[in-house]
Amino acid sequence: MTQDALKKAVAEAAVEYITPKLERDSVIGIGTGSTANYFIDLLPDIQDQFAGAVASSEETTRRLKSLGIPVYELNDVNELLIYIDGADESNPQLELIKGGGAALTREKVVAAVAREFLCIADESKWVEILGDFPLPVEVIPMARSYVGRQLVKLGGQPVYRQGVVTDNGNVILDVYNLQIMEPRKLENAINQIAGVVTNGLFAHRPADVLLLGTSEGVKRISPRY
Ligand code: 5RP
Repeated sequence: MTQDALKKAVAEAAVEYITPKLERDSVIGIGTGSTANYFIDLLPDIQDQFAGAVASSEETTRRLKSLGIPVYELNDVNELLIYIDGADESNPQLELIKGGGAALTREKVVAAVAREFLCIADESKWVEILGDFPLPVEVIPMARSYVGRQLVKLGGQPVYRQGVVTDNGNVILDVYNLQIMEPRKLENAINQIAGVVTNGLFAHRPADVLLLGTSEGVKRISPRY
């Protein structure tokens, strides 16, 4: 199976997973990226079963609106039933690296609000130790060089993602060569650097459930503690 076919399979499994939980007034959070896009494209089929969505990016907002799905501002919503999003890496604790699509900050906020976080990913994202995928860090533009130097002190090799401006008007540093043995500790340490908005480690708020697309079918994985 191709990677795209696996992404599509997990998107279908996500629809099956959430449908029994939906109520007419439910609002769901929706992430960003190609896997999330497969999920979004299936929403018109179940549109009458929930009220609408909160999006984690402008790109997702546009896609949802183009399909006629109502999009709400997070500030106008009391609670999110569930957040559905992809990932760049997941470990067995369902701690994630996210931000390959530069939407990490809004993704982290929406995930924080949601009662449940359902991650959908193909098997290439499954790792024992996080860090092969360069860790995205969102930084306010004037702090870029300073933050870069601090990230070197933490053992990484930051690379400025040229030509990318986030939905929040910031820049991204991708940090290579991190073997992330203690994800929560590193998430904290990077977020302490002045000028960092947030980083792409989702360790304090890991996923609750992972639907992993594999050649043997979609596996439903709960965190291993
Ligand atoms: C965007 C993200 C995405 O979830 C992540 O990059 C995975 O993307 P894809 O589903 O295209 O593989 O974190 O910021």
